[in-house]
Amino acid sequence: MLIEDLDKSQNYTTTTVALVTSRNGNVDNVMSAEWSIRVSIDPFLIGVMVGYERESYRLISRSGEFGINYCSDEQGELAHIAGNYSLKDTNKFQKGHIATFYGKFIKAPLIKGCISVYECRVINEFKVGDHAAFIGEVLNGYYDGTKKPLVFHQGKFFHLGDRISH
Ligand SMILES: Cc1cc2nc3c(=O)[nH]c(=O)nc-3n(C[C@H](O)[C@H](O)[C@H](O)COP(=O)(O)O)c2cc1C
Repeated sequence: MLIEDLDKSQNYTTTTVALVTSRNGNVDNVMSAEWSIRVSIDPFLIGVMVGYERESYRLISRSGEFGINYCSDEQGELAHIAGNYSLKDTNKFQKGHIATFYGKFIKAPLIKGCISVYECRVINEFKVGDHAAFIGEVLNGYYDGTKKPLVFHQGKFFHLGDRISH
């Protein structure tokens, strides 16, 4: 039975979580973003919504690039750390013992252990309500077919459920 409740209904969307990586100068950062999704097939574009008060906003807008590292279901703790601490006072790479590697097109670090990873160059930024939308042209992509995605629902992390026919 559907219950009419605008506030509570917001908890009933389901997403995965991307670890959004950025670098400006010698400063690296990572933040969790559930609002991160492919927005065009050809060209391959990924959009990510970033709050203006985030340190990541500052780094991405200055550098014009970002990494999108979609979490595997082994990375719930990383998603928690990257989404609940800020570069303002925490080195999240150290706190989460986050293993990184470098791509071919962007300077921001990329994250090991993810299900898929993308190197993105910002081609557009605009305001959507209280967040900035960064649209990234995807320059390169990686995947690990042995991993399963992290599912985010009602503020909690889950494994992917069973396949439904069709
Ligand atoms: C699971 C999860 C998903 C999140 N999704 C977003 C998001 O899509 N956009 C956003 O701006 N913040 C999101 N956040 C909050 C940021 O990750 C959080 O404010 C983070 O501390 C920002 O770090 P920074 O200041 O180092 O950039 C999310 C947090 C969690 C735990």
